[in-house]
Amino acid sequence: MKRILVTGAAGQVGAELVPALRSAYGEDVVVGTDLREPPPELGGSGPWTRLDCTDAAALAEAVRRHRADGIYHLAAILSATAEADPPKAYRVNMGALFNVLEVARVERCAVFTPSSIAAFGAGTPADPAPQDTLQRPSTMYGVTKVAGELLCDYYFTRYGLDTRGLRYPGLISYVAPPGGGTTDYAVQIFYDALEHGRYRCFLAAETQLDMMYMPDAIRASLELMEADPARLRHRNAFNIAALQLTPERLAGALRRHVPEFRIEYEVDPVRQRIADSWPRRLDDTAAREEWGWRARYDLESMTDDMLRHLRVKLGLPAAAGAGH
Ligand SMILES: NC(=O)c1ccc[n+]([C@@H]2O[C@H](COP(=O)([O-])OP(=O)(O)OC[C@H]3O[C@@H](n4cnc5c(N)ncnc54)[C@H](O)[C@@H]3O)[C@@H](O)[C@H]2O)c1
Repeated sequence: MKRILVTGAAGQVGAELVPALRSAYGEDVVVGTDLREPPPELGGSGPWTRLDCTDAAALAEAVRRHRADGIYHLAAILSATAEADPPKAYRVNMGALFNVLEVARVERCAVFTPSSIAAFGAGTPADPAPQDTLQRPSTMYGVTKVAGELLCDYYFTRYGLDTRGLRYPGLISYVAPPGGGTTDYAVQIFYDALEHGRYRCFLAAETQLDMMYMPDAIRASLELMEADPARLRHRNAFNIAALQLTPERLAGALRRHVPEFRIEYEVDPVRQRIADSWPRRLDDTAAREEWGWRARYDLESMTDDMLRHLRVKLGLPAAAGAGH
């Protein structure tokens, strides 16, 4: 890929993927697009276009104008938001992906599309969820994600389009806020620990889900798109895994840095039901074997790094002993 267009670039992933793509391929060749203005984290650098990618004509025009040969398609409605407005989630998650694949077919672009742990359902083996397994999700978000995986596979087998994708676990990051997913607690808990010393969690204490620190997810996305296509047997929807977290385990890691930290629970039945339908852990053997995937951050190193960056972001003093 020489010239890249990113949809949904103002979100939690885009705010970090766009700078990573710009430093890998060049500032001017990566255009960020979103319904929104660029987030402050992008610092006003590099090209940006306001774009609703459910509008097929506007998307095609942007791809042509930018002469893109690669599309990272991030625009989506996430799990909890999707349950609040299923028709909108269907329109955006299916409609925009179809538009992306169609313009990519005509213009011969490579396409990266994230799927999610939400593409699994209660019938999937939960610990670990295999790469190829039963997928009967019970949420609108999950339905659109599994359909998206299939659609991307279809465009590869039917048209030879270079489609690739990952099933991101819940993503933990400090740059941009999360966009309404079920794993958002694992981000908010850090802010509340530093600012208030306590956090009220909407998932139950022992709810285990697969999570990942954003730098690992960004690196995985770039590495997959750079991988030798001859080695890829799966292409779309690779399981990747790093951290298996429960709210209690995360609170324990935080307490080692913020000893007074307290967590309490006020379970939200909608998000708890979603979380209970997802796997506790993903088997990422296929990603390891086919393109050499390895997570770098564990719970300790992720917690250290998150707290260090958030203290700077929130204007709080560095922790005692930091900087050695
Ligand atoms: N964040 C996670 O924990 C996580 C986990 C698994 C998968 N994913 C997937 O990763 C991708 C990126 O997620 P994210 O966390 O950055 O989401 P986000 O909600 O933070 O960002 C999505 C962006 O898409 C934009 N958008 C929505 N509708 C649009 C439209 N019609 N046209 C253009 N832009 C539109 C929004 O303005 C937003 O900036 C999504 O496909 C998501 O399903 C995310």
